[in-house]
Amino acid sequence: MINYTDKIPNNVDLGRDRVLQRALEHWQPAYMGWWYDMGPNESHNYEVYLRTAISVEPDGWAQFGYVKMPEYRWGIFLQPRDEKREVNFGIHKGQPSWQEVPGEYRSTLRRVIVTQGDTEPASVEQQRMLGVSCPSMYDLRNIFQVNVEEGRHLWAMVYLLHRYFGRDGREEAESLLARRSGDADNPRILGAFNEPTPDWLAFYMFTFFTDRDGKFQLCALAESGFDPLARTCRFMLTEEAHHMFVGETGVGRIIQRTCDVMKENKVEDPSDVRALGVIDLPTIQKYLNFHYSVTLDLYGSDVSSNAANYYTSGLKGRFRETKLDDDHVLTDAEYPVSEVVGGKIITKNMPALTALNERLRDDYIAEIADGVGRWQRVIDNAGIPFRLTLPHKGFHREIGNFAGHFVSPDGEVLSEEPWKNHEAEWLPSSKDYTYVQSLMSGRVVEPGKFANWIAPPARGINNQPLNFEYVRFN
Ligand SMILES: [Fe+2]
Ligand SMILES: [Fe+2]
Repeated sequence: MINYTDKIPNNVDLGRDRVLQRALEHWQPAYMGWWYDMGPNESHNYEVYLRTAISVEPDGWAQFGYVKMPEYRWGIFLQPRDEKREVNFGIHKGQPSWQEVPGEYRSTLRRVIVTQGDTEPASVEQQRMLGVSCPSMYDLRNIFQVNVEEGRHLWAMVYLLHRYFGRDGREEAESLLARRSGDADNPRILGAFNEPTPDWLAFYMFTFFTDRDGKFQLCALAESGFDPLARTCRFMLTEEAHHMFVGETGVGRIIQRTCDVMKENKVEDPSDVRALGVIDLPTIQKYLNFHYSVTLDLYGSDVSSNAANYYTSGLKGRFRETKLDDDHVLTDAEYPVSEVVGGKIITKNMPALTALNERLRDDYIAEIADGVGRWQRVIDNAGIPFRLTLPHKGFHREIGNFAGHFVSPDGEVLSEEPWKNHEAEWLPSSKDYTYVQSLMSGRVVEPGKFANWIAPPARGINNQPLNFEYVRFN
Protein backbone atom coordinates (compact mmCIF):
# COMPACT_ATOMS: atom_id res chain seq x y z
CA MET A 1 0.00 0.00 0.00
CA ILE A 2 1.36 3.40 -0.95
CA ASN A 3 1.38 6.24 1.57
CA TYR A 4 0.17 8.82 -0.92
CA THR A 5 0.83 12.20 0.58
CA ASP A 6 4.25 11.20 1.88
CA LYS A 7 5.61 9.09 -0.97
CA ILE A 8 4.04 10.90 -3.89
CA PRO A 9 4.18 14.65 -3.38
CA ASN A 10 1.25 16.15 -5.25
CA ASN A 11 -1.21 18.97 -5.52
CA VAL A 12 -4.02 16.90 -7.04
CA ASP A 13 -5.55 15.71 -3.76
CA LEU A 14 -4.29 12.20 -4.42
CA GLY A 15 -4.98 11.19 -0.80
CA ARG A 16 -8.72 11.47 -1.46
CA ASP A 17 -8.93 10.35 -5.09
CA ARG A 18 -9.70 6.63 -4.85
CA VAL A 19 -9.90 6.08 -8.60
CA LEU A 20 -6.48 7.57 -9.14
CA GLN A 21 -5.07 5.65 -6.17
CA ARG A 22 -6.30 2.36 -7.59
CA ALA A 23 -4.81 3.10 -10.99
CA LEU A 24 -1.47 4.04 -9.44
CA GLU A 25 -1.41 0.95 -7.22
CA HIS A 26 -0.92 -1.10 -10.36
CA TRP A 27 1.20 1.33 -12.31
CA GLN A 28 3.64 2.49 -9.62
CA PRO A 29 5.21 -0.98 -9.05
CA ALA A 30 5.47 -1.44 -12.82
CA TYR A 31 7.16 1.95 -13.04
CA MET A 32 9.68 0.89 -10.37
CA GLY A 33 10.35 -2.29 -12.30
CA TRP A 34 11.02 -0.20 -15.39
CA TRP A 35 13.33 2.12 -13.42
CA TYR A 36 15.34 -0.82 -12.02
CA ASP A 37 15.69 -2.31 -15.51
CA MET A 38 16.06 0.79 -17.66
CA GLY A 39 17.09 3.60 -15.30
CA PRO A 40 20.77 4.62 -14.99
CA ASN A 41 22.97 1.54 -14.99
CA GLU A 42 24.31 0.37 -11.59
CA SER A 43 23.08 3.52 -9.89
CA HIS A 44 20.51 2.11 -7.52
CA ASN A 45 22.61 2.39 -4.36
CA TYR A 46 24.18 5.75 -5.11
CA GLU A 47 23.15 8.71 -3.02
CA VAL A 48 22.80 11.66 -5.34
CA TYR A 49 22.52 15.35 -4.49
CA LEU A 50 19.23 15.95 -6.31
CA ARG A 51 16.50 18.50 -6.34
CA THR A 52 12.98 17.22 -5.75
CA ALA A 53 9.75 19.08 -6.41
CA ILE A 54 7.59 18.81 -3.28
CA SER A 55 5.17 21.65 -4.03
CA VAL A 56 4.50 24.25 -6.71
CA GLU A 57 5.40 27.14 -4.40
CA PRO A 58 8.60 29.05 -5.24
CA ASP A 59 10.40 27.42 -2.27
CA GLY A 60 8.99 23.95 -2.90
CA TRP A 61 9.79 22.96 -6.42
CA ALA A 62 13.53 22.56 -5.94
CA GLN A 63 14.43 20.94 -2.62
CA PHE A 64 18.04 19.76 -2.59
CA GLY A 65 19.37 16.78 -0.70
CA TYR A 66 20.93 13.31 -1.01
CA VAL A 67 18.54 10.72 -2.43
CA LYS A 68 18.89 7.15 -3.64
CA MET A 69 17.26 7.37 -7.04
CA PRO A 70 14.84 4.45 -6.61
CA GLU A 71 13.61 6.37 -3.55
CA TYR A 72 13.17 9.61 -5.48
CA ARG A 73 9.77 11.07 -4.74
CA TRP A 74 8.26 11.32 -8.19
CA GLY A 75 5.39 13.70 -7.67
CA ILE A 76 2.35 14.97 -9.55
CA PHE A 77 2.14 18.72 -9.94
CA LEU A 78 -0.02 21.03 -11.95
CA GLN A 79 0.34 24.77 -12.04
CA PRO A 80 -2.47 26.16 -9.82
CA ARG A 81 -5.75 26.69 -11.62
CA ASP A 82 -6.83 30.06 -12.95
CA GLU A 83 -10.63 29.98 -12.64
CA LYS A 84 -11.02 32.59 -15.35
CA ARG A 85 -8.87 30.86 -17.95
CA GLU A 86 -10.48 30.46 -21.38
CA VAL A 87 -9.79 28.54 -24.56
CA ASN A 88 -7.58 31.09 -26.27
CA PHE A 89 -7.59 29.98 -29.92
CA GLY A 90 -9.46 27.96 -32.52
CA ILE A 91 -13.21 27.57 -32.97
CA HIS A 92 -13.88 27.39 -29.19
CA LYS A 93 -12.00 30.62 -28.49
CA GLY A 94 -13.63 32.54 -25.64
CA GLN A 95 -15.29 29.52 -23.99
CA PRO A 96 -14.21 28.66 -20.44
CA SER A 97 -11.24 26.27 -20.55
CA TRP A 98 -12.23 22.61 -20.24
CA GLN A 99 -11.82 20.86 -16.90
CA GLU A 100 -12.86 17.49 -18.37
CA VAL A 101 -12.01 15.96 -21.74
CA PRO A 102 -14.48 17.02 -24.44
CA GLY A 103 -15.98 13.80 -25.82
CA GLU A 104 -15.32 14.58 -29.47
CA TYR A 105 -11.60 15.20 -28.83
CA ARG A 106 -11.01 12.28 -26.52
CA SER A 107 -8.95 10.05 -28.80
CA THR A 108 -7.00 12.95 -30.29
CA LEU A 109 -6.08 14.29 -26.87
CA ARG A 110 -5.11 10.85 -25.68
CA ARG A 111 -2.78 10.48 -28.65
CA VAL A 112 -1.17 13.87 -28.01
CA ILE A 113 -0.57 12.97 -24.35
CA VAL A 114 0.77 9.50 -25.14
CA THR A 115 3.15 10.89 -27.78
CA GLN A 116 4.55 13.43 -25.33
CA GLY A 117 4.65 10.87 -22.50
CA ASP A 118 6.55 8.35 -24.62
CA THR A 119 9.53 10.68 -25.06
CA GLU A 120 10.14 10.93 -21.31
CA PRO A 121 11.13 7.33 -20.47
CA ALA A 122 12.74 7.03 -23.91
CA SER A 123 15.48 9.52 -23.08
CA VAL A 124 16.21 7.76 -19.77
CA GLU A 125 16.69 4.53 -21.74
CA GLN A 126 18.91 6.28 -24.27
CA GLN A 127 21.17 7.66 -21.54
CA ARG A 128 21.32 4.74 -19.16
CA MET A 129 24.89 3.61 -19.87
CA LEU A 130 26.55 7.04 -19.71
CA GLY A 131 27.31 6.95 -15.98
CA VAL A 132 30.28 4.62 -16.55
CA SER A 133 32.07 7.26 -18.63
CA CYS A 134 31.13 10.52 -16.89
CA PRO A 135 33.67 13.36 -17.04
CA SER A 136 33.08 14.42 -13.41
CA MET A 137 30.95 13.91 -10.34
CA TYR A 138 29.20 17.20 -11.16
CA ASP A 139 28.21 15.92 -14.62
CA LEU A 140 27.18 12.55 -13.22
CA ARG A 141 24.85 14.29 -10.81
CA ASN A 142 23.42 16.37 -13.65
CA ILE A 143 22.59 13.41 -15.88
CA PHE A 144 20.90 11.72 -12.91
CA GLN A 145 18.90 14.88 -12.26
CA VAL A 146 17.74 14.93 -15.86
CA ASN A 147 16.87 11.22 -15.67
CA VAL A 148 14.75 11.44 -12.53
CA GLU A 149 12.92 14.48 -13.89
CA GLU A 150 12.16 12.73 -17.18
CA GLY A 151 10.76 10.01 -14.93
CA ARG A 152 8.59 12.64 -13.25
CA HIS A 153 7.45 13.92 -16.64
CA LEU A 154 6.29 10.41 -17.42
CA TRP A 155 4.36 10.49 -14.14
CA ALA A 156 2.82 13.81 -15.19
CA MET A 157 1.48 12.37 -18.43
CA VAL A 158 0.37 9.13 -16.74
CA TYR A 159 -1.55 11.20 -14.19
CA LEU A 160 -3.56 12.72 -17.05
CA LEU A 161 -4.16 9.30 -18.63
CA HIS A 162 -5.27 7.77 -15.33
CA ARG A 163 -7.37 10.67 -14.17
CA TYR A 164 -9.14 11.59 -17.40
CA PHE A 165 -9.12 8.62 -19.79
CA GLY A 166 -10.43 5.67 -17.81
CA ARG A 167 -9.55 2.20 -18.95
CA ASP A 168 -8.00 3.33 -22.25
CA GLY A 169 -5.78 5.66 -20.30
CA ARG A 170 -4.63 2.88 -17.96
CA GLU A 171 -3.76 0.68 -20.92
CA GLU A 172 -1.79 3.46 -22.57
CA ALA A 173 0.04 4.09 -19.28
CA GLU A 174 1.14 0.46 -19.24
CA SER A 175 2.29 0.62 -22.85
CA LEU A 176 4.48 3.60 -21.97
CA LEU A 177 6.46 1.23 -19.73
CA ALA A 178 6.56 -1.55 -22.35
CA ARG A 179 8.05 0.24 -25.36
CA ARG A 180 11.84 0.53 -25.46
CA SER A 181 14.08 3.04 -27.19
CA GLY A 182 15.64 1.47 -30.28
CA ASP A 183 13.76 -1.84 -29.88
CA ALA A 184 13.11 -3.54 -33.22
CA ASP A 185 9.70 -4.91 -32.21
CA ASN A 186 8.35 -2.32 -29.80
CA PRO A 187 10.21 0.96 -30.31
CA ARG A 188 9.45 4.39 -28.91
CA ILE A 189 7.00 6.40 -31.01
CA LEU A 190 9.27 9.14 -32.41
CA GLY A 191 12.45 8.68 -34.45
CA ALA A 192 14.94 10.79 -32.47
CA PHE A 193 14.01 8.84 -29.35
CA ASN A 194 15.16 5.60 -30.92
CA GLU A 195 18.63 6.93 -31.80
CA PRO A 196 21.43 5.86 -29.49
CA THR A 197 23.09 8.42 -27.21
CA PRO A 198 26.49 6.72 -27.23
CA ASP A 199 28.72 9.30 -25.54
CA TRP A 200 28.71 12.51 -23.51
CA LEU A 201 29.04 14.84 -26.48
CA ALA A 202 25.90 13.19 -27.86
CA PHE A 203 24.24 13.56 -24.45
CA TYR A 204 24.92 17.30 -24.25
CA MET A 205 23.80 17.75 -27.86
CA PHE A 206 20.65 15.77 -27.08
CA THR A 207 19.79 17.89 -24.04
CA PHE A 208 20.50 21.08 -25.97
CA PHE A 209 18.62 20.14 -29.17
CA THR A 210 16.10 17.44 -28.28
CA ASP A 211 15.10 18.54 -24.79
CA ARG A 212 14.47 21.92 -26.40
CA ASP A 213 12.04 20.26 -28.79
CA GLY A 214 10.44 19.04 -25.56
CA LYS A 215 10.26 22.62 -24.37
CA PHE A 216 8.54 23.83 -27.54
CA GLN A 217 6.06 20.95 -27.57
CA LEU A 218 5.28 21.61 -23.90
CA CYS A 219 4.85 25.32 -24.61
CA ALA A 220 2.34 24.51 -27.37
CA LEU A 221 0.47 22.09 -25.07
CA ALA A 222 0.61 24.61 -22.21
CA GLU A 223 -1.76 26.70 -24.36
CA SER A 224 -4.26 23.84 -24.61
CA GLY A 225 -7.95 24.47 -23.96
CA PHE A 226 -7.89 21.24 -21.91
CA ASP A 227 -6.85 22.96 -18.71
CA PRO A 228 -5.31 20.01 -16.79
CA LEU A 229 -2.94 19.39 -19.73
CA ALA A 230 -2.01 23.07 -19.92
CA ARG A 231 -1.32 23.26 -16.18
CA THR A 232 0.69 20.02 -16.17
CA CYS A 233 2.88 21.20 -19.03
CA ARG A 234 3.47 24.61 -17.42
CA PHE A 235 4.94 22.93 -14.38
CA MET A 236 7.07 20.54 -16.46
CA LEU A 237 8.62 23.55 -18.18
CA THR A 238 10.18 24.69 -14.90
CA GLU A 239 12.25 21.48 -14.90
CA GLU A 240 13.03 21.45 -18.62
CA ALA A 241 15.09 24.63 -18.30
CA HIS A 242 17.75 22.76 -16.32
CA HIS A 243 18.01 20.01 -18.95
CA MET A 244 18.75 22.56 -21.67
CA PHE A 245 21.22 24.29 -19.35
CA VAL A 246 23.08 20.98 -18.94
CA GLY A 247 23.24 20.62 -22.72
CA GLU A 248 24.25 24.14 -23.59
CA THR A 249 26.91 24.43 -20.88
CA GLY A 250 28.13 20.88 -21.57
CA VAL A 251 28.84 21.58 -25.24
CA GLY A 252 30.15 25.05 -24.31
CA ARG A 253 32.62 23.54 -21.84
CA ILE A 254 33.84 21.01 -24.42
CA ILE A 255 34.39 23.86 -26.91
CA GLN A 256 36.13 25.90 -24.22
CA ARG A 257 38.52 23.07 -23.39
CA THR A 258 39.30 22.40 -27.05
CA CYS A 259 40.00 26.09 -27.68
CA ASP A 260 42.21 26.34 -24.57
CA VAL A 261 44.27 23.34 -25.66
CA MET A 262 44.53 24.60 -29.26
CA LYS A 263 45.83 27.96 -28.05
CA GLU A 264 48.20 26.58 -25.46
CA ASN A 265 49.76 24.23 -27.97
CA LYS A 266 49.38 26.45 -31.02
CA VAL A 267 47.69 23.75 -33.09
CA GLU A 268 44.77 23.99 -35.50
CA ASP A 269 44.82 20.81 -37.55
CA PRO A 270 42.11 18.43 -36.27
CA SER A 271 44.50 15.49 -36.08
CA ASP A 272 46.91 17.53 -33.93
CA VAL A 273 43.99 18.58 -31.76
CA ARG A 274 42.93 14.96 -31.34
CA ALA A 275 46.48 13.96 -30.45
CA LEU A 276 46.12 16.22 -27.42
CA GLY A 277 43.07 14.30 -26.19
CA VAL A 278 40.33 16.84 -26.84
CA ILE A 279 37.47 16.94 -29.36
CA ASP A 280 38.32 18.87 -32.54
CA LEU A 281 35.85 21.56 -33.64
CA PRO A 282 34.89 19.90 -36.97
CA THR A 283 33.71 16.84 -35.02
CA ILE A 284 31.61 19.07 -32.77
CA GLN A 285 30.09 20.61 -35.91
CA LYS A 286 29.19 17.13 -37.21
CA TYR A 287 27.47 16.17 -33.97
CA LEU A 288 25.59 19.46 -34.13
CA ASN A 289 24.46 18.68 -37.70
CA PHE A 290 23.20 15.27 -36.64
CA HIS A 291 21.28 16.25 -33.53
CA TYR A 292 19.80 19.35 -35.14
CA SER A 293 18.51 17.50 -38.18
CA VAL A 294 16.99 14.52 -36.37
CA THR A 295 15.35 16.88 -33.89
CA LEU A 296 13.84 19.03 -36.66
CA ASP A 297 11.99 15.92 -37.81
CA LEU A 298 10.21 15.73 -34.44
CA TYR A 299 8.02 18.69 -35.40
CA GLY A 300 6.36 16.62 -38.12
CA SER A 301 5.35 17.42 -41.68
CA ASP A 302 5.68 21.01 -42.86
CA VAL A 303 2.12 20.91 -44.12
CA SER A 304 -0.17 18.95 -41.83
CA SER A 305 -3.93 18.69 -41.56
CA ASN A 306 -3.46 17.08 -38.11
CA ALA A 307 -1.68 20.20 -36.89
CA ALA A 308 -4.51 22.31 -38.28
CA ASN A 309 -7.09 20.14 -36.50
CA TYR A 310 -5.26 20.26 -33.17
CA TYR A 311 -5.24 24.03 -33.39
CA THR A 312 -8.76 24.57 -34.64
CA SER A 313 -10.09 22.26 -31.92
CA GLY A 314 -8.22 24.21 -29.23
CA LEU A 315 -6.00 21.27 -28.21
CA LYS A 316 -2.52 22.53 -29.11
CA GLY A 317 -1.61 26.18 -29.57
CA ARG A 318 1.32 28.07 -30.99
CA PHE A 319 4.47 29.02 -29.10
CA ARG A 320 3.40 31.88 -26.77
CA GLU A 321 -0.10 31.86 -28.29
CA THR A 322 -1.61 34.45 -25.98
CA LYS A 323 1.27 36.89 -26.62
CA LEU A 324 0.72 36.83 -30.39
CA ASP A 325 -1.15 39.73 -31.92
CA ASP A 326 -3.65 38.21 -34.38
CA ASP A 327 -7.13 36.68 -34.40
CA HIS A 328 -6.01 33.27 -32.97
CA VAL A 329 -8.27 31.54 -35.47
CA LEU A 330 -6.05 31.85 -38.57
CA THR A 331 -8.73 31.19 -41.17
CA ASP A 332 -7.24 33.61 -43.71
CA ALA A 333 -3.62 33.79 -42.52
CA GLU A 334 -0.67 32.41 -44.51
CA TYR A 335 2.76 31.14 -43.57
CA PRO A 336 5.84 30.48 -45.74
CA VAL A 337 6.83 26.85 -46.27
CA SER A 338 9.78 25.50 -48.29
CA GLU A 339 9.86 22.57 -50.65
CA VAL A 340 12.07 21.10 -53.35
CA VAL A 341 10.83 21.65 -56.88
CA GLY A 342 12.92 20.69 -59.90
CA GLY A 343 16.15 20.47 -57.92
CA LYS A 344 15.67 23.88 -56.27
CA ILE A 345 14.37 24.89 -52.86
CA ILE A 346 11.46 27.27 -53.22
CA THR A 347 9.32 28.93 -50.58
CA LYS A 348 5.64 29.56 -50.94
CA ASN A 349 2.85 30.79 -48.74
CA MET A 350 0.51 28.14 -47.42
CA PRO A 351 -2.58 28.42 -45.22
CA ALA A 352 -1.16 29.19 -41.77
CA LEU A 353 -3.36 26.53 -40.18
CA THR A 354 -1.75 23.68 -42.07
CA ALA A 355 1.75 25.16 -41.55
CA LEU A 356 1.67 25.14 -37.74
CA ASN A 357 4.31 22.42 -37.41
CA GLU A 358 6.61 24.47 -39.60
CA ARG A 359 5.92 27.57 -37.56
CA LEU A 360 6.78 25.81 -34.28
CA ARG A 361 9.94 24.43 -35.93
CA ASP A 362 10.91 27.97 -36.98
CA ASP A 363 10.35 29.30 -33.45
CA TYR A 364 12.60 26.50 -32.23
CA ILE A 365 15.27 27.26 -34.82
CA ALA A 366 15.42 30.91 -33.72
CA GLU A 367 16.17 29.85 -30.13
CA ILE A 368 18.69 27.24 -31.27
CA ALA A 369 20.49 29.86 -33.35
CA ASP A 370 20.94 32.04 -30.24
CA GLY A 371 22.51 29.13 -28.34
CA VAL A 372 24.86 28.28 -31.18
CA GLY A 373 25.82 31.98 -31.25
CA ARG A 374 26.85 31.69 -27.60
CA TRP A 375 29.04 28.68 -28.41
CA GLN A 376 30.56 30.67 -31.26
CA ARG A 377 31.56 33.43 -28.85
CA VAL A 378 33.70 30.95 -26.91
CA ILE A 379 35.61 30.21 -30.14
CA ASP A 380 35.80 33.89 -31.10
CA ASN A 381 37.08 34.87 -27.66
CA ALA A 382 39.88 32.36 -28.10
CA GLY A 383 40.75 34.03 -31.42
CA ILE A 384 40.31 30.79 -33.35
CA PRO A 385 39.09 31.21 -36.96
CA PHE A 386 36.35 28.56 -36.95
CA ARG A 387 32.64 29.06 -37.55
CA LEU A 388 29.98 26.78 -36.11
CA THR A 389 26.94 26.92 -38.35
CA LEU A 390 23.43 25.57 -38.34
CA PRO A 391 22.94 23.45 -41.44
CA HIS A 392 20.10 24.26 -43.83
CA LYS A 393 16.68 23.19 -42.57
CA GLY A 394 16.45 20.66 -45.40
CA PHE A 395 19.70 18.86 -44.55
CA HIS A 396 19.41 15.18 -43.53
CA ARG A 397 15.66 15.19 -43.09
CA GLU A 398 13.38 12.18 -43.08
CA ILE A 399 10.02 13.79 -42.44
CA GLY A 400 8.20 16.50 -44.37
CA ASN A 401 8.92 18.26 -47.65
CA PHE A 402 12.66 17.55 -47.59
CA ALA A 403 12.35 13.81 -46.96
CA GLY A 404 13.84 11.84 -49.82
CA HIS A 405 15.94 14.81 -51.01
CA PHE A 406 19.67 15.17 -50.64
CA VAL A 407 20.25 18.68 -49.36
CA SER A 408 23.74 19.79 -48.37
CA PRO A 409 24.34 21.78 -45.15
CA ASP A 410 24.58 24.90 -47.37
CA GLY A 411 21.13 24.25 -48.80
CA GLU A 412 22.20 22.91 -52.16
CA VAL A 413 20.01 20.15 -53.61
CA LEU A 414 22.26 17.30 -54.71
CA SER A 415 21.66 13.85 -56.08
CA GLU A 416 22.26 10.87 -53.85
CA GLU A 417 25.79 9.98 -54.88
CA PRO A 418 27.53 13.33 -54.33
CA TRP A 419 25.64 13.69 -51.05
CA LYS A 420 26.84 10.28 -49.86
CA ASN A 421 30.38 11.16 -50.92
CA HIS A 422 30.32 14.06 -48.50
CA GLU A 423 28.39 12.37 -45.72
CA ALA A 424 31.46 11.71 -43.58
CA GLU A 425 32.32 15.42 -43.68
CA TRP A 426 28.85 16.41 -42.56
CA LEU A 427 27.76 13.77 -40.07
CA PRO A 428 29.77 11.87 -37.45
CA SER A 429 31.34 8.78 -39.00
CA SER A 430 32.01 5.56 -37.15
CA LYS A 431 35.64 6.76 -36.85
CA ASP A 432 34.48 9.98 -35.20
CA TYR A 433 32.33 8.07 -32.74
CA THR A 434 35.21 5.71 -32.02
CA TYR A 435 37.52 8.64 -31.36
CA VAL A 436 35.08 10.49 -29.08
CA GLN A 437 34.33 7.30 -27.18
CA SER A 438 38.04 6.53 -26.81
CA LEU A 439 38.27 9.68 -24.67
CA MET A 440 35.48 8.38 -22.45
CA SER A 441 36.77 4.93 -21.60
CA GLY A 442 36.33 5.36 -17.85
CA ARG A 443 34.61 7.63 -15.38
CA VAL A 444 36.15 10.60 -13.57
CA VAL A 445 34.59 10.83 -10.13
CA GLU A 446 37.15 12.31 -7.75
CA PRO A 447 35.38 15.42 -6.34
CA GLY A 448 36.54 18.54 -8.17
CA LYS A 449 38.31 16.60 -10.99
CA PHE A 450 37.28 16.85 -14.65
CA ALA A 451 38.16 14.76 -17.69
CA ASN A 452 40.79 16.24 -19.98
CA TRP A 453 38.30 16.89 -22.81
CA ILE A 454 35.96 19.23 -20.93
CA ALA A 455 36.41 22.47 -18.96
CA PRO A 456 34.95 22.74 -15.44
CA PRO A 457 31.65 24.63 -15.18
CA ALA A 458 31.57 28.23 -13.98
CA ARG A 459 29.91 27.21 -10.72
CA GLY A 460 28.52 24.23 -8.85
CA ILE A 461 24.93 23.13 -8.30
CA ASN A 462 22.82 25.05 -5.74
CA ASN A 463 25.83 27.19 -4.74
CA GLN A 464 27.87 24.16 -3.76
CA PRO A 465 31.59 24.23 -4.62
CA LEU A 466 32.91 22.35 -7.66
CA ASN A 467 34.65 19.81 -5.43
CA PHE A 468 31.43 19.01 -3.57
CA GLU A 469 30.59 15.31 -3.25
CA TYR A 470 27.61 15.35 -5.64
CA VAL A 471 27.36 11.55 -5.69
CA ARG A 472 28.15 9.12 -2.87
CA PHE A 473 28.83 5.71 -4.31
CA ASN A 474 28.43 3.57 -1.16
FE1 LIG B 1 10.79 15.79 -20.16
FE1 LIG C 1 13.93 17.15 -20.53
